[in-house]
Amino acid sequence: MGATISDALVLFGATGDLAYKRIYPALHALARRGHFDIPLVCVARSGWGINKMRDHIRASLENHGKVDEAAFSKLSSLLHYVDGDYNEQATFDRLCQALSKAQRPLCYLAIPPSMFPAVVESLSKIGCTGGGRVVVEKPFGRDLASAQSLNQTLHKYFDEAAIFRIDHYLGKEAVQNLMYFRFANSFLEPVWNRNYVKSVQITMAESFGIEGRGRFYEEVGAVRDVVQNHLLQVIAILAMEPPVGEGSEPLRDEKAKVFRGIRPLTGRSLVRGQYRGYRSEPGVARDSQVETFAAMQIHLDSWRWEGVPFYIRTGKNMPVTATEILVTLRPPPQKVFAGTIPERPNYFRFRLGPSQVAIAIGASVKMPGTAMSGDEVELYVCKIRADEMDAYERLIGDAIKGDSTLFARQDSVELAWRIVDRIIGMETPVYEYEPGSWGPPEANEMIADVDGWHSPIAEC
Ligand code: BG6
Repeated sequence: MGATISDALVLFGATGDLAYKRIYPALHALARRGHFDIPLVCVARSGWGINKMRDHIRASLENHGKVDEAAFSKLSSLLHYVDGDYNEQATFDRLCQALSKAQRPLCYLAIPPSMFPAVVESLSKIGCTGGGRVVVEKPFGRDLASAQSLNQTLHKYFDEAAIFRIDHYLGKEAVQNLMYFRFANSFLEPVWNRNYVKSVQITMAESFGIEGRGRFYEEVGAVRDVVQNHLLQVIAILAMEPPVGEGSEPLRDEKAKVFRGIRPLTGRSLVRGQYRGYRSEPGVARDSQVETFAAMQIHLDSWRWEGVPFYIRTGKNMPVTATEILVTLRPPPQKVFAGTIPERPNYFRFRLGPSQVAIAIGASVKMPGTAMSGDEVELYVCKIRADEMDAYERLIGDAIKGDSTLFARQDSVELAWRIVDRIIGMETPVYEYEPGSWGPPEANEMIADVDGWHSPIAEC
């Protein structure tokens, strides 16, 4: 589709957390690069006026780095504010006036999904759904059934091509780089399969807890919060076939194929954990069984990956904040230098942040000296800072342009829920772990056959 550019951005939930922490800094960054030049209509039911809204945006920017005055005054000049209840038609009549001549607004629903039906219906009444687009955020539902119902709600008024589901992991520089590295190099392809790869593992570790989000976290837990979306998306990029053809759909088709090939998880392939002290956090039940840690093994039924175990581990309150992928290759067929080569086989290591993006290849070389003894070295293919472009800046910019490539498509979202659907309602044990540790020891057994978990270090 030769996509048209949206001619206004309508932000529902303009006084909320997401807008404050992620959306305004992203709009500011877009404006600084000269990439934001459409009316910004903020909508909220806070009883505010435009001046308070402008001050709030400024406070958000001051809290998230340095304010570029030219970019801020650009945003201010484009700003409109509509106050009102989302259930009242009068709010949408005022929105219609604020939109003036805009025909193709991008409507960002930074509000709880329970409000989506009323909002999209009212948007359709004021004619915003015909040429307009809608942005929604993960979590897309809380299980397969609710995701399907959410999709039905949106599809009543918007075509799939007009729905932009943000999974901010897809907008990260490091995740882009992962895909680029896979398909822009020819040396990788011959080994990127079951013949050479022994195992693949991803660790997403965070050294902080739930940061005051107790009530939210009690409703989700680690599997819903980051596995169903961020980490399965990363697996799709690692495992997919090269897209055939240009544009957003061939790529999203290949990712959907990966999800289709992943066997639904069972309790046996999962270890859940909870950090000591979680139950004393505000908003958390004293007997909560919600997991703040999850480790699992994933099976991919595909020609390329049959028999290669993929592992995921994620947790709050771990020793470091870092996300790394380790793709370990099979060892050489014989030990030519018997007993003297390092134990660790070749590997590819991808560091996805937070502060650094890196791709490294692990190899063995001879140590200087008379003996044929080996040493492990890492060859850095890339090592850069991760903050060149924030994921939200990239994604909002793409949504305004109508480029869906980096957004989750309906089929993929539902297929990803199908993978975890069985385990999210399951009462498997939740093992306690010490804050600052790598999670419960029970998670080590599942990966013992392939040399254990790789634990990222603070600086890569
Ligand atoms: C969010 C989760 O989607 O991703 C958080 O809700 C998690 O729990 C966050 O901390 C991690 O993303 P990032 O970009 O901060 O690494």
